[in-house]
Amino acid sequence: MVSRISRRAAIAAGAALLAAPAVHAQGNWPDQSITLVIPFAPGGPTDAVGRMMAESMSRELGVNVIVQNVGGAGGTTGANRVAQARPDGNTILLHNIGMATAAILYRQLPFNPIDSFEHIGLVTATPMVWLTRPDFPGQTFADMIRFVRERRDAVNMAHAGLGSASQLCGTLFQASLGVGVTSVAFTGSGPIYPQLIAGRLDIYCDQTTSAASHIRANTVKALAVTTPQPLAQVPGVPTAGQSGLPGFEVTIWHGLYAPKGTPAPVVQRLNQAMRFALRDERVVTRLNELASPPEPEARQTPAAHRAHLVAEIERWRPILQAAGQFAD
Ligand code: MLT
Repeated sequence: MVSRISRRAAIAAGAALLAAPAVHAQGNWPDQSITLVIPFAPGGPTDAVGRMMAESMSRELGVNVIVQNVGGAGGTTGANRVAQARPDGNTILLHNIGMATAAILYRQLPFNPIDSFEHIGLVTATPMVWLTRPDFPGQTFADMIRFVRERRDAVNMAHAGLGSASQLCGTLFQASLGVGVTSVAFTGSGPIYPQLIAGRLDIYCDQTTSAASHIRANTVKALAVTTPQPLAQVPGVPTAGQSGLPGFEVTIWHGLYAPKGTPAPVVQRLNQAMRFALRDERVVTRLNELASPPEPEARQTPAAHRAHLVAEIERWRPILQAAGQFAD
């Protein structure tokens, strides 16, 4: 009997050891490639920032940082993938403001944006721009507002899923007008452009990071930016505030995450590599060209990131609850 109990105990102890996350000796980390999960499809703003960061962080860490796009459910599928990953620093996440809005919109979220992650630091802050299909019957944001007021749910508005940055912008826009349009959800900004350019979608609010090249190529119309002042990087486009929606301002922030339980020295090393990338001249130049500058250094810390996320959830909660749109 005694020996049976001790055999069972030994088996249980062995199983627990096997189940325990294999955290690498911190002195050796990183000793293999790192996966950077982008919770949206390729070709969008999160993907653009993520690929710049991955390339630069690879150089600093001495191992490949490989981007993996895991789109779906407004970014929550990819975020959950990282929340459930081994906390060894080899799987990390770049996500945007959607980490805060998902906490409000998804009442059955399988992870907790605050408690399921180690917050590594804030990366960039990005304005948005209202776009239309190229053959849109109007030239100004005021024309677009008129079009939406007249056609209402016959208007197709794209977004990157419930909880995404573009959906937040679209929700605020509809709430400002008191009008509901037809929302068409995609897995990210990238797949939206072929449909918008082909005229199958009417309007879309995207971040400048991916919108800028389409605006320059003249394949879409840019009608208003969501900043207090016009942007040099999107020349000739007025602010939404100047064009019929006073105070309509939206800025999208991005942060880097590791699964909860990732050892503190590994989080610190990831933060160091993140800050290296945000000082890398090539990255900084490109981010500034896209109107998406690095966050100030004081915000590039785990503590500032966590505090900002907590504050953002509280900031958006009453606004999104009043809009009454939930994912589940
Ligand atoms: C969003 O709307 O949250 C993002 O723009 C989606 C993306 O990065 O593709």
